[in-house]
Amino acid sequence: MNLYSKEVMKHFKKPQNVGKMENPSGTGKVGNLKCGDIMYLYIKVKKDKKGREVIKDVKFETFGCTIAIANTSLLTTMIKGKTIDQALKIKREDLVKRFGGVPFVKIHCSMLAVDALSEAVYDYFKKNNRRITKDLKIRHESSERIGKEIKEKHKELVELEEKIHEDKK
Ligand code: FES
Repeated sequence: MNLYSKEVMKHFKKPQNVGKMENPSGTGKVGNLKCGDIMYLYIKVKKDKKGREVIKDVKFETFGCTIAIANTSLLTTMIKGKTIDQALKIKREDLVKRFGGVPFVKIHCSMLAVDALSEAVYDYFKKNNRRITKDLKIRHESSERIGKEIKEKHKELVELEEKIHEDKK
C-alpha cells in the first residue's frame, strides 16, 4: 500500500506556486510545533471588476515535508482568483479530503497551509487598517503562541531555517 495518494505525489513532485514574492500584499509565517518546520506564504491582493478583493497571486516556501509541500501547493491552486472570504473558508479537512486522506502521523503537517494563509490575510488586513474578524484574531493568536513555543523547543532548527531563508533573499 502506498503511503501517499497519487494526488499527494502529483503536488509533491511538481509543486505549484513555489517561491518568494516581491512586494506581497501580505505574508504569513507559521511553524510546526511537532517538527520545527517553517512555512512562508505570500499573497497579492487586487480588486476585480466587481470591486471585490481577490487573491491575484500566491506563493509559498517551506522547510516542511511531503505533506506540507503537497498540501500548500494544492491550497495555492484553490485560492488563486478567489475572494479573501472564499479562500479563508477552505479548511485543512478540505485539503485532506481532496488527497483522499493523509497518514495519521502527518496530520500536523497538513495544518501549515491554512495557518499560513490566515497569517498572510491577517498581515494584509493589519497593514491596511482593516477590521480583523474574531476568528482571524483567534487564529493569529494561536499561530503567534505556537511560533514562540517552536522557538524554545526547536531553537537551533528554527534559527537555521530562518538563516537559510534570509540568505535566499
Ligand atoms: Fe515537518 Fe511534516 S514533518 S511539516
